[in-house]
Amino acid sequence: MNTTIQEENKSVQLIENNRLLKAAKGEKVDRPPVWLMRQAGRILPQYKALRAKLSGFKELVETPELACEVTLQPVDELGVDAAIIFSDILVIPEAMGLTYEMIEKKGPSFPKTVQTLDDLKQLRVADGDGVAYTCKAIQLVKAELNNKIPLIGFAGAPWTIFAYMVEGGGSKTFSKARGKLYSDPEFSHQLMEMITESTIAYLKAQIASGADLIQVFDSWAGMLTPKQYEIFALPYLKRICDALPEVPVTVFAKGAYFTLNNLADMNCQTIGLDWNMNIEHCREILPNKCLQGNLDPCQLYAPFSEIESAAKEMVKRFGTQKYIANLGHGVYPDTPLDAVRCFVDTVQGL
Ligand code: CP3
Repeated sequence: MNTTIQEENKSVQLIENNRLLKAAKGEKVDRPPVWLMRQAGRILPQYKALRAKLSGFKELVETPELACEVTLQPVDELGVDAAIIFSDILVIPEAMGLTYEMIEKKGPSFPKTVQTLDDLKQLRVADGDGVAYTCKAIQLVKAELNNKIPLIGFAGAPWTIFAYMVEGGGSKTFSKARGKLYSDPEFSHQLMEMITESTIAYLKAQIASGADLIQVFDSWAGMLTPKQYEIFALPYLKRICDALPEVPVTVFAKGAYFTLNNLADMNCQTIGLDWNMNIEHCREILPNKCLQGNLDPCQLYAPFSEIESAAKEMVKRFGTQKYIANLGHGVYPDTPLDAVRCFVDTVQGL
């Protein structure tokens, strides 16, 4: 069920508010689109209320009707210019055979990790069916959105997924995962390969289900040396981008200022920037890309008047075209909802 470019253009025209897709493609917009990474989640009281009634985070992710409901919550509450499907990057390890747990106030944890070539024999390359619940959720969301705004699908980049599968959870240093790249490059490439194939199948299934744009999260990109990133991350990221010609793709390689030159040649429309990145410098080295970001999520703890001026200043520096307003990383759960609203309203009032 591959969408052809023609069909895709048609669907772009059908979407009422298509600023996101236009900006990504470099087409003219009246103002920049705005959405927030992690907009579906704990900033919203309705999310917390629903979540409290369930067995846990995974029930929410794995029940399409519930995932649909929380995907739409920020759309209704904040009027953002795009929805992002409620799921997690860790559904890919799970579909490959490595289950995760989401521990309250601690984050993800893998009861088993992979360390050796032998361990990889226990894993499989997942096909799109492995994450059928997210694809079903996408179909439900698309029907509910009724082409009012676009829906973003997503996955983790191979290096970031590798990091969780080897480390077994979050880490300040990811020293086990980074160490593996040096101690066992053969294992490392083989696991990257399996993750890449699984991710391509998953993202193609998301697109076939209705995702209008895909974002690839390389959250731990900044942990690697430029050389390790070139050897173990870029080739796999490139394969993912090359495999998805049907929709615009955004690459968010957090902290990877050292590889921006390489991202300029990547087959993707948009580059996501974190708050450490210099806006003017990025425009200079990524002249053909749409840029997304990059307000410090902590800026939203400031008084509203300051949020407003910071958001305006940010848009002024990026310019209104080929630009998608966002934070430099996911919104923090304790951010006041009215501060988020102030950020969104400021951009939409431009
Ligand atoms: O609104 C959205 O952005 C869509 C939903 C979304 C979630 N996770 C839901 C979630 C998205 C896009 C993600 C991506 C994700 N997950 C990333 C990449 C983006 C990033 O933040 O760097 C990463 C690294 C993960 C892995 C992950 N999931 C961690 C480290 C944690 C724990 C930290 C935290 O925020 O609690 C999660 C849990 C998670 N994923 C929650 C949500 C709403 C909170 C869990 C809960 O409600 O109990």
